[in-house]
Amino acid sequence: MHPAPSSPAAAPVPGPVRFGELRGLPVVGKLLDFRRDRLGLHDECARTGDIVRFPMLTRHVYCISSPELVPALLVDNQDAFVKAPGLATYGRALLGDGLLTAEGDRHRRERKLLAPAFAPKRIAAYGDVMAGLTERMAASWRDGQGLDVAAEMMHLTLAIVGRTLFDADIGGDAAVVGEALTEGMEFMIDRLSLPLPMTWPLPSNKRMAAAVARLDDVVFRIIAERRAAPGDRGDVMSMLLEARDDDGGGMTDRDVRDEIMTLMLAGHETTANALAWTWYLLSQHPTAYDRLCAEVDQVLGGRTPTVADLPRLPWALQVIEEAMRLYPPAYVTARMATRPVRIGPVEVQPREVVMVTIRGIHRRPDLWPEPAVFRPDRFTEAAKRARPRYHYMPFGAGPRICIGNHFALQEAHLIVATLAQRWRFRLMQPADIEPEPLVTLRPRGGVHVEAIARRPAARA
Ligand code: HEM
Repeated sequence: MHPAPSSPAAAPVPGPVRFGELRGLPVVGKLLDFRRDRLGLHDECARTGDIVRFPMLTRHVYCISSPELVPALLVDNQDAFVKAPGLATYGRALLGDGLLTAEGDRHRRERKLLAPAFAPKRIAAYGDVMAGLTERMAASWRDGQGLDVAAEMMHLTLAIVGRTLFDADIGGDAAVVGEALTEGMEFMIDRLSLPLPMTWPLPSNKRMAAAVARLDDVVFRIIAERRAAPGDRGDVMSMLLEARDDDGGGMTDRDVRDEIMTLMLAGHETTANALAWTWYLLSQHPTAYDRLCAEVDQVLGGRTPTVADLPRLPWALQVIEEAMRLYPPAYVTARMATRPVRIGPVEVQPREVVMVTIRGIHRRPDLWPEPAVFRPDRFTEAAKRARPRYHYMPFGAGPRICIGNHFALQEAHLIVATLAQRWRFRLMQPADIEPEPLVTLRPRGGVHVEAIARRPAARA
């Protein structure tokens, strides 16, 4: 038995929702499992019940793996929850008070301010930049070249976010940003399970501060460039620099920095992971890959795809959606309760953390027959319409659902269609690539492929 965490655990109300409880070690609870094998712990929770309680240092953590319980956490009781401590404390060290980490009124204000940049018309207008930057990358490879397609996707999605949202060329900073981001995420995960103060002079704290400083260099440089050449360019940066509050005051450079850092990081890493897993799965499923190549050849005939082509490229989207079912880039989301609140059979107490294992829901055998099998037919329009809400939620749910949802899907769709026309990727490493559960779910060690030329871009 472990000693009871500080808050009392209310007895669960019996009912159709399966409640489960995991025991942990004295004092630390499930901390070691969390540090060593986080996905294993999620899977153990999903096997044990729809909502499972386990001890973690001084508090209880709950893990939801049933779609039925999702609304109580993410949709209906917004006033009862804030983001969980990992993101709130350590994420904030990197992202400041941007949209992902802001709470309450500040969050509502920021969401309203940024909404126009993510309206469907605006996103459609980004289509040519998305496809154009993809063509540029596709044209830079040689036939037979070895590539880490996971790293390539990171560079590409970072360049796309930079150009579409900030009208900035950050392609050259991709390596710096990528490295600093990985350090930031490793730090966040580490601190989540070992919450040491940020102010202690620890080597890890110093490395984190240096990573933030490197990212700040990039972001403050972009802000300075734009302040030096003011004017509305119709992008997010213009919206931020021109925003005025009720007293006519503008945003400080620090506020703008937090928003940009958030969009830059949230807006490229997740989409890049979705794409890396998509290419990995395609390389393992030649029939699905052949069908993709046939679809793009037939619809595009060598042309660069536009947003108007996308409805005629349904298989390309199905492949991406199925990849995000098996490997959801945001595989978990978590909140901390600020007041007692009921979730199904349990009353969660203040300071207790509740997470949803998105990956766990996506792999439930009662919702997804043969859940481990890659089967893009699960995402035909008819199948999607028939599916209850929250069975599939790669972008979260409720008022804090991903603001970049449509941006990401359009971007990934255009990238897959563009690259499938020009190149075929053959996996050059053992096929059992492991997921690495940092803040997002990355393919550990990358995805190493040989790029085999298909057809060059048609001349205009
Ligand atoms: C496949 C790609 C993506 C996935 C899987 C993804 C997933 C998610 C998820 C699950 C959340 C909710 C987190 C929570 O509940 O705590 C979220 C929030 C967010 N995402 Fe994404 N995202 C993706 C792409 C993007 C893109 C392209 C952008 C911006 C260009 C973006 C910006 C954000 C922001 C700013 C939030 C915070 C929203 C808020 O709290 O109001 N994401 N994302």
